[in-house]
Amino acid sequence: MKPTPKPGILDISPYVGGRAHAPGVRRVFKLSSNESALGPSPAAVAAFQEAASGLDIYPEGSAKHLRDAIGEFYGLNPDRIVCGNGSDELLTMLANAYLRVGDEVLFSEHAFLVYKIATLANSAVPVVVKEPKLRVDVDAMLAAVTPKTRLVYLANPNNPTGSYLSVEDVRRLHAGLRSDILLIIDAAYAEYVKRNDYEAGIELVSQFDNVVMTRTFSKIFGLAGLRVGWAFCPAAVADVLNRVRGPFNVSVPGQRAAAAALHDREHNDKSAAHNEKWKTWLTENIRALGLRVDDSVCNFVLIHFRDAAEAKAADEFTTARGIILRPVGAYGLHDCLRLTVGGEEANRETLAALADFVKTRK
Ligand SMILES: Cc1ncc(COP(=O)(O)O)c(C=O)c1O
Repeated sequence: MKPTPKPGILDISPYVGGRAHAPGVRRVFKLSSNESALGPSPAAVAAFQEAASGLDIYPEGSAKHLRDAIGEFYGLNPDRIVCGNGSDELLTMLANAYLRVGDEVLFSEHAFLVYKIATLANSAVPVVVKEPKLRVDVDAMLAAVTPKTRLVYLANPNNPTGSYLSVEDVRRLHAGLRSDILLIIDAAYAEYVKRNDYEAGIELVSQFDNVVMTRTFSKIFGLAGLRVGWAFCPAAVADVLNRVRGPFNVSVPGQRAAAAALHDREHNDKSAAHNEKWKTWLTENIRALGLRVDDSVCNFVLIHFRDAAEAKAADEFTTARGIILRPVGAYGLHDCLRLTVGGEEANRETLAALADFVKTRK
């Protein structure tokens, strides 16, 4: 006899993050984890440093300072906001709180990997819905609903495809779900989206009892290392999450820096503008090399190669030049590499490396 984990846990492939090092290369551009090209606001760094003087004191457990800041910034009731150690923690906490053994969880074929991990960790059943055009198919999602469906995860926009659903499509998806199914809209990249027909999910959460939206400070706010995310929830869901979350799940430096980051509009606008400019530049110039690049509303693009072997060769080629992209085979996209928009130099070096790689093609 030996200790045995719950059913499902040994079916989990552990999450592998983006690489940060290239063997033998001193100068590296890490474009593998969708981190911010411009980093955090100086105000956030100052708030983080200031918090260093009080590290012996526990945080205020409900992250009130940060919830108030988020509430004020987005015009939301802070009582319906729950903060987490990254939005990953909230996505997982929702699964922990709502899933029973054998429940079904819907998400799309190339969706963020955490959904499957959270599902299996709760002995529930992942139901993976095909994405014919690397975009969530609402009809197929609705057709996959069964009496056992308990949760639906929707990354909007999605990583690693960079595609999104319009507000109409999200509403159509929601309208087709029973009221006891919780729709979780993961809007980690919402701040980057520049489309008139996109909404992160605030309206839907305000209107319905079975929709939650998660957000993060890891992307446009440049605080991935601090681990801060938040969820806007119906009151009953916030109540549930507050019962199950760790008592002090967001650190004092995390709460302080995130609140400061939110208010530095100038820096946030600069990050968004930088992203828009260089994402367009990368997309157009990589396409001009003859490689397929999908339209993306996020801070990364998906580059297609002829097959998995060529994607691997391209990854090795760029890595040898200190440019670290992200292989996305774990997302079922074996022929692709994901490239995060970097600073100007990183972007130019990446294009040059891809151009040289393309010349080696037969
Ligand atoms: C779609 C999506 N959701 C959530 C996250 C998690 O972000 P964090 O836990 O840093 O808030 C990521 C990070 O890459 C992501 O791509």
